[in-house]
Amino acid sequence: MELDRELLYRLEENLKPHRIEDCIVPITVLDYGEISIVFKIEGRENLVYKRMPLFRSMDEAERFAAMYREYNSLVEEAGLRIPPAETTTIQVSGRPVIVLYLVQQLMPPEAFGHRLIHGFSDDENRALFEKIIKEISKIWGFNRKCMSGIELALDAQLSNWVLHEDQVYYVDTSTPLYRKDGVEQINQNVEAFLKSVPTGLRWIFRKVFINDVIPRYYDPRKVFVDFASNLNNERPDVIPTAIDVINGILEGGNDPITEEEVAKYYEEDRKIWLLFLTLRRADRWAKTKLFRRRYEFTLPLKSSFQ
Ligand SMILES: Nc1ncnc2c1ncn2[C@@H]1O[C@H](COP(=O)(O)OP(=O)(O)O)[C@@H](O)[C@H]1O
Ligand SMILES: [Mg+2]
Repeated sequence: MELDRELLYRLEENLKPHRIEDCIVPITVLDYGEISIVFKIEGRENLVYKRMPLFRSMDEAERFAAMYREYNSLVEEAGLRIPPAETTTIQVSGRPVIVLYLVQQLMPPEAFGHRLIHGFSDDENRALFEKIIKEISKIWGFNRKCMSGIELALDAQLSNWVLHEDQVYYVDTSTPLYRKDGVEQINQNVEAFLKSVPTGLRWIFRKVFINDVIPRYYDPRKVFVDFASNLNNERPDVIPTAIDVINGILEGGNDPITEEEVAKYYEEDRKIWLLFLTLRRADRWAKTKLFRRRYEFTLPLKSSFQ
């Protein structure tokens, strides 16, 4: 994989996170995530770059990169397909931040689940959900079988899956979610992730993240509710199909998922993400306009929940 660190250095040196389109290195943004932006660089057509401006020391960035690599190989061990990836760190001299780039092989943008469902028939959507839910279930199967004290989790939402040449791929490994002997590995990096949260709110996010948000990804039923709920952002009319597929494979001992439950979950989730974006915009305004400082994150113009 030809990462071209020199080009990335030039890009970082020149990049204004709030005016990303003005960059001298020609890039096309594919997506604005909560933490990273995902873009392509002209002339590097088969790669996507996920920019994570989170780190204060090389040690911290390298620790995260090692976790990312380990998580990728564990997810593959569980039987999922993921695109080949590499990492590199860039620090522009004079800036306090170290930017980690997760560089992945480009998958066809039109083959992502959240794009496909708009053109698919009911039967095709059902088949797509069945395929994805089978992949998710491999993670729970791995956890049941695994003897090495490893427990895996994942963010199952549709925009993280690609159907390419009749095979399903999982792309969103940027938040490595796994436990070793019961110890949550991402907790070592919580401070890095909290860089994206306005300073005054970090204490509450730290608590909510560690106690509620992260554990939720390990609970099969909650992951499936989240999967169904997220369809509200794309095609609410397919939610009953998704629920039907999920309930068909839910293990005994779990209550079936209901449409009411999914709707309630979505309302909560939507409120939280919209509030979070509003607070981050206010924080960016204060940092850039009041204090004339650099703000490292690129915020989406519109939330996927709007
Ligand atoms: N390898 C890839 N090829 C093409 N597009 C990608 C790739 N990885 C991510 N994307 C696009 O960027 C979006 C966000 O990427 P993802 O890795 O899921 O990060 P996030 O944590 O922001 O959700 C995806 O939904 C997809 O549209
Ligand atoms: Mg994602």
